[in-house]
Parts: sequence; structure tokens; C-alpha cells
Amino acid sequence: MTAGKSRPRLSITIMVEDFFISYIGNTMLNKIGKIKQSAINDIQTIRSLSDLDNYRIKYLARKGLVADLFDELRNVSAEERPHIGKIANELRNQVQSLFDEKKQNLESNVKHEQKRLDLTLPGRLSWVGTQHPLTQTLDEIKRIFFRMGFGIATGPEIEDDYHNFEALNFPPDHPARDMQDTFFISDKVLLRTHTSPVQIRIMENQPPPVRVIIPGRVYRNEAVSARSYCLFHQVEGLYIDEGVTFSELKGTLVAFAKEFYGSDIKYRFRPSYFPFTEPSAEMDITCFLCKGKGCRMCKQTGWLEILGCGMVDPNVYKFVGYDPEKYSGYAFGMGIERITLLRYSIDDIRILFENDVRFLKQF
Ligand code: DAH
Repeated sequence: MTAGKSRPRLSITIMVEDFFISYIGNTMLNKIGKIKQSAINDIQTIRSLSDLDNYRIKYLARKGLVADLFDELRNVSAEERPHIGKIANELRNQVQSLFDEKKQNLESNVKHEQKRLDLTLPGRLSWVGTQHPLTQTLDEIKRIFFRMGFGIATGPEIEDDYHNFEALNFPPDHPARDMQDTFFISDKVLLRTHTSPVQIRIMENQPPPVRVIIPGRVYRNEAVSARSYCLFHQVEGLYIDEGVTFSELKGTLVAFAKEFYGSDIKYRFRPSYFPFTEPSAEMDITCFLCKGKGCRMCKQTGWLEILGCGMVDPNVYKFVGYDPEKYSGYAFGMGIERITLLRYSIDDIRILFENDVRFLKQF
């Protein structure tokens, strides 16, 4: 081969249909025909947009078969070039429109796929958490006492003997101090057995007037059964001011009970004993299941005990430095579990602590 600027042109001409064409021209026309056929065949096999991109690279890209063809057009003689160029152009347009049409089809399939809805599928439930029944009871109690002007206070669950017993006027040999009831951590440190020690902590830290409720967890070393658990919750109440009377205690608790249990309940206060109150009482309401006739829930008595209460014993004031001549007040305490079990007719206290969603989601 000799190197030169222009390649030697073959001058062979052949007859194609009605006119003569050069060998090179003929080769070009054949090539165009082959590309066209393969472009048509290929397009039919394409199923995805990424297949289609390969197709574009093969035929339409800068180095694709169609572009090659236009490169080769330079070899065609000036007389034949317009004719063959026109056919090459037609090929390019055809391949481009095959490509465009396929692209549109594939894209609309994708959209259709995305929009396709299966109306027979069951709806998806979103799981919404529910409040624990104890929290619901507690919130309701808080709401009622807040409206009556009570504030809220809390205290530690790990207590010392002084706050849990001594300052609450428990004598040294009181049975509640027994190891049987109390979880001792060490000789003088224990898990609080009631929320009453927070009364002492509040009075130690602020002068009267005091008007708070004290919700919290308490612990007792009892045999676990359907009726008792090693931990439970109480709400304590404390009101101290000048001239607070027992009738205010009754009025407040009756208002609470009517709001919480319903205005049609009957109630009674029975004399009782707590070391830190004098006089002390327990409050009963008519059983809301049998309306006082007597049933299993109220053990046939018609009454349910709902809380303990009383006037704060002057001995307690001595421990916290309040003047018993100037101030008087009342305290009360109720168990949240008991109320909750009664309210929702749940017959086993342990279920409140298992956190089984199948139980909890019913509330
Ligand atoms: N702390 C008592 C208990 O756990 C409940 C109680 C009774 C609290 C009378 C009080 C009260 O504040 O005045 O059984």
C-alpha cells in the first residue's frame, strides 16, 4: 500500500435496478441495509431502559454504527454521495425513531408499574401505641387533684429507715419494719414500702403551706400472687396549712371519689390506724360492680376500700420542725393497681407488669 493523501478510487460500476453504481457505493448501500435490518431486529429484543442504552451506544452514539457509516461516506464519489447520503440519513432517522418509540414505551411501563394498585390487598394497619392502664388511672387521678389546686412531688425509691419509718412515727418494733415486708438493701437502707416518706422530705425542705400529690413506685416483700406483687404504685396526698380540718379531708376525698368513680357512688369513712396520722380512717365506696348488693369483687360486703387517710400526727411535725400548735393538715394514700384492677375488671395484678402487647393494646 502506498501512503498518499487520497485513496485510489475503484472505478468498477455495477447496475443496480435501473442505474449504475460504483462498487464502493454498492458496498455502502448493502451496509446500510444490514444496519437497518439489525436495528429493527435488535429493538424487538429490548426489555429495559438499560438494554435500550446499550442499543443507543451500538447504533446512535458518536462511535456507533450509524456514525461510522457517515464517516465512510467520505469514500463515496461526489456524484453518488448525495444519493447515498440521503439513504444514510433516512437510516439514521429510522433508527432514532425506533429508539424514541421504545424509550417512550419503556418509560410509560415503569410509570404504570409504579401506579398500579392492587385494590384487593388488605389495608396496612399502623400500630399505634396505647397508654398503660396504670398510666391512664394515674393521669386521671392527677387531673382531678390538679384541678383542686394540688401540685406534684416525687422522691427516691431507695430510702433510709428514717424517712420510711422513723420520722413517720413508726415505733421501733412496728411490724411493718419487719424483714418480711421490707426489702432491705443494708441495715438502714431499703426500698421504700410506701410513698409517705416523701411527705417527710417535702416538709423538711419547705415551710407550710404544702398541697401536693406524690405518685410513685413502692416495693414490698410479699409472696407474688394474683392479688399482690413485689412492686406497685401509690399516690400520696399531703395538705398542711393553718386551720386545716378533718371535714376538709373528707370534702376533698369525697369530691375526688365522685369525680373518679361516678357521682352516684356512696361512701363511708371507717376509723383506722396509721402511725403518722391521728385520727386515721379508711375510705370505702359502694362496689361499682354490684352497686352495693354484694359480689365476688367486694367479697359480698357491698363495699370497696379505696384509700387510707388521716390528720397528720403532731409527732411527725416534730421530726420536720413544723409548729404543731400553728399548723394542721391531712394526708392520704391510695394504691393505683388496686383501683386499676377494679376499674377494668382485671383479675390478676401480675398482668400489669408483664407488658404483653396483646393485653396492653386493649386499653
Ligand atoms: N402509707 C400507707 C400505706 O402504704 C397509706 C396511707 C395511709 C398514706 C394513710 C397516708 C395516710 O398518707 O394518711 O399503707
